[in-house]
Amino acid sequence: MSDKCFIEIDGKKYELPVKKGTIGPSVVDVRDFYKNTGHFTFDPGFTSTASCQSNICFIDGDKGTLLYRGYEIEQLSEKSSFLEVAYLLIKGELPTKDQFTEFSSAIKNHTMVHEQIRSFYNGFRRGSHPMAMMLGVVGALSAFYADSANVNDPKEREISSRRMIAKVPTLAAMAYKYSIGQPFVYPDNEFNYCENFLNMCFSVPAQKYKINKVVANALEKIFILHADHEQNASTSTVRLAASSAVNPFASVAVGFSALWGPLHGGANEAALNMLKKIGSVKNIPEYIKRAKDPNDNFRLMGFGHRVYKNYDPRAKVMQKACHEVLEALGKKDDELLKIAIELEKIALNDDYFVQKKLYPNIDFYSGITLSAMGFPTEMFVVLFAVARTSGWIAHWKEMYSDPSNKLNRPRQLYAGSTKRDFLDINKR
Ligand code: CMC
Repeated sequence: MSDKCFIEIDGKKYELPVKKGTIGPSVVDVRDFYKNTGHFTFDPGFTSTASCQSNICFIDGDKGTLLYRGYEIEQLSEKSSFLEVAYLLIKGELPTKDQFTEFSSAIKNHTMVHEQIRSFYNGFRRGSHPMAMMLGVVGALSAFYADSANVNDPKEREISSRRMIAKVPTLAAMAYKYSIGQPFVYPDNEFNYCENFLNMCFSVPAQKYKINKVVANALEKIFILHADHEQNASTSTVRLAASSAVNPFASVAVGFSALWGPLHGGANEAALNMLKKIGSVKNIPEYIKRAKDPNDNFRLMGFGHRVYKNYDPRAKVMQKACHEVLEALGKKDDELLKIAIELEKIALNDDYFVQKKLYPNIDFYSGITLSAMGFPTEMFVVLFAVARTSGWIAHWKEMYSDPSNKLNRPRQLYAGSTKRDFLDINKR
């Protein structure tokens, strides 16, 4: 394949370099395009634009492949742990035993949050959405851990990364406890990462929470599946914010905002709500009809993806985990699971979905699983964010070690009014 291509504008030919990746499509390097041609490129929604060079994650949307640092998601979710995957994403290689011991004990030693942070929660209305609280408290970490906020110091970057991976689950569990009016549960270093999170969410002073191994293992898988997904909306938002050299806690806080929307991380909540709304297998045809109607804005939540034009590989792992959890908890006759299985079967054989290559994505089965584990729908996106924090941090750190990193500042196609004179209010 050629390492250059040409474009002709107004009869003048310009040469553009073509850069190759290790796998996946090459890119036409347009960095000097404006300087050389006086034109911008136009790509709302970034459907054809690579916003950066990255070594962290690779998706082949046509084949339905997802790799973290070259390892298939299926292998990682089967053989690894979330903390090991977090290490892999951030450092680039799987840890040796010694490296893992050092990393996981450092994470354990950072799980507590400054006691003053508790007061933040009291400022929120009871019943607030836990993600709404997370937007505030994650950003507020900047006010407590200023000693690791210098983005130009690699040591401080390392400390703030570990702090976030350790403290975000604690903050998430506190948001949950506050939203249901229960006392906060402190982290307990006797547990591993996922068990500790379950304990902080479900333990109460009057009764200890008994860790169910199947549930803890499923959470481990769910966290691994959600840990990274290359330049998705929230990761791109984190990168964009971080490009201004703002402190790491502030950069990650905006990832929470971007993730919350129903077209991104909020889809698992939307998918479960949709299954509840469908209510019965017999109502499925009516909802399939609505999803296909261009005049109806109803969509099958948990279906379709910007990049995957094949079955989302995460959805397959999630589907298996869902069956395991429901079986272990004696809920395999769950009505919502029946609706989901039937809905998937019908949609996968329907011309509309087949032609548009709309397959179940990770969110289709994650909601049913999390719900069976005892999490309310509002917590689904929070759990997604806890896992994705490791991916955001990996990208944030990669940016800082990339010499070509500069302030992200997109351009625009201006289609507004041309220059005009101000008119006094009485004359308008
Ligand atoms: N149900 C019905 N029709 C759909 C759906 C759906 N879930 N998704 C896409 N379509 C149709 C859409 O109407 C459009 O049809 P037409 O070409 O006739 O206008 C066509 O498929 C292409 O859709 P699009 O919105 O242009 O595609 P996109 O790449 O911008 O959207 C998406 C991707 C994920 C926003 C979209 O598929 C969607 O809204 N899905 C439901 C929400 C969801 O499950 N989101 C979770 C994504 S996975 C988690 C994550 O990584 O964040």
